[in-house]
Amino acid sequence: MSKKHPPLLSLSHVEKSFRISGKHVPILKNISLDLQQGEWIGLMGNSGSGKTTLLSLIAGIIRPDHGEVFWKGKKLWYFFDIYPAFLRNREMGFIFQDFRLVEEESVWENLLLPLRIKGWYGKEELQRALWLLERVGLQDHRSHPSGLLSGGQKQRLALARALVLRPSLVLADEPFANLDEHTAEEMMELFLSLRKEENFAMILVHHRKKLSNSCDKTYHLENGRLHPV
Ligand SMILES: Nc1ncnc2c1ncn2[C@@H]1O[C@H](COP(=O)(O)OP(=O)(O)OP(=O)(O)O)[C@@H](O)[C@H]1O
Ligand SMILES: [Mg+2]
Repeated sequence: MSKKHPPLLSLSHVEKSFRISGKHVPILKNISLDLQQGEWIGLMGNSGSGKTTLLSLIAGIIRPDHGEVFWKGKKLWYFFDIYPAFLRNREMGFIFQDFRLVEEESVWENLLLPLRIKGWYGKEELQRALWLLERVGLQDHRSHPSGLLSGGQKQRLALARALVLRPSLVLADEPFANLDEHTAEEMMELFLSLRKEENFAMILVHHRKKLSNSCDKTYHLENGRLHPV
């Protein structure tokens, strides 16, 4: 690691607990992690082990109880909530496990949501949105309410939306879970080809051992700790 360039993202001794049925349950214990520009990390672990919690901490959706999250060497929470919200829009693409689409809005409106939050965009951004829509095979569903899509179609829309603003980090929470093998492979090909052009980093939560081959490192989350695989 060069001294001049801090990692894209660092977690330093991060801890997070939740109150579950009245009990204080530690979910993440003393997690430290560096992610370099363009690096892909796979994250595996049993249901309930804390994978989504970890991604939410990285995206600044929730705050750690202890420890710090750094973005390019700067504390994520230094400038209050507005800084993580800004980064989430401009620098990160989050593919949520439950998609988080605006169900009553059309496919196209959902895809444009990050651009609308950013506040301004031009022809180039709209062309990219259209191109992504075609790449995920939803061009014929452009004006369809997203709530009426199938599970796999919702997932593909969520993939396209996460990539629309050319993020430097993609947080992908089981992005292929609702896709058949063939479509999952097609979507992975899309990620791999965009990686070559755009060199985004990614944390990929998944349950398919095969996907580890595309990652630079893989960790297993168990009992609140990360174990290299
Ligand atoms: N906001 C919250 N309040 C209370 N408990 C929570 C909250 N978010 C998550 N939890 C609990 O924390 C634990 C970890 O949840 P998390 O969603 O991170 O697991 P996961 O590894 O993503 O699981 P899955 O593979 O099923 O998606 C679970 O026991 C969950 O019930
Ligand atoms: Mg999860």
